[in-house]
Amino acid sequence: MKKIAVFASGSGSNFQAILDAQLDAEISLLVCDKPQAFCVERAKKAEVPTFVFQAKEYASKEAYELEILHALKEHGVELIVLAGYMRLIGTTLLQAFEGKIVNIHPSLLPAFPGKDAIGQALEAKVKVSGVTVHYVDAGMDTGPIIAQRAIELNEDETKESLQTKIHRIEHELYPKVIQGLLQ
Ligand code: GAR
Repeated sequence: MKKIAVFASGSGSNFQAILDAQLDAEISLLVCDKPQAFCVERAKKAEVPTFVFQAKEYASKEAYELEILHALKEHGVELIVLAGYMRLIGTTLLQAFEGKIVNIHPSLLPAFPGKDAIGQALEAKVKVSGVTVHYVDAGMDTGPIIAQRAIELNEDETKESLQTKIHRIEHELYPKVIQGLLQ
């Protein structure tokens, strides 16, 4: 079975959806840059090993990514799945896992890359936004697109309501896309 690492920084609801989907893969490691994040609790409950770090304790991105790389190798990881990991992946991991890192982003890329994609979409008063799964390259949410789903916005859409709609779609779409990548 292919071994997957999930990278997350927050609640980890996508991580949970991936765990619950029981893919033909082993979720071998959770990598998290926020020791207090709820995704770490989810990993413990599911008995998934964790690598938790704080970027400020390292001299550079290269320094912490070398440690992540070591953990990934130790666990035999073959595919990296970013699920709300709020850091740019650096050359250390990109070179070691070329074409083997995917990300989910809460907009129809190339619209609204970067932080607070949901807030950006509301600010722009778009009628349609959505979710994108894409391969990761050195840019900010710029890699080749694998799958997208559109979501219509209501007149009275709020950050919370759009977040809820987006999560619902993400939790269905991301496990399916990952399963497809395992073939
Ligand atoms: C998800 O909506 C994901 O698309 C987004 O963070 C959320 C994490 O939620 N990712 C990005 O914005 C990446 N640029 P979760 O922790 O509940 O899975």
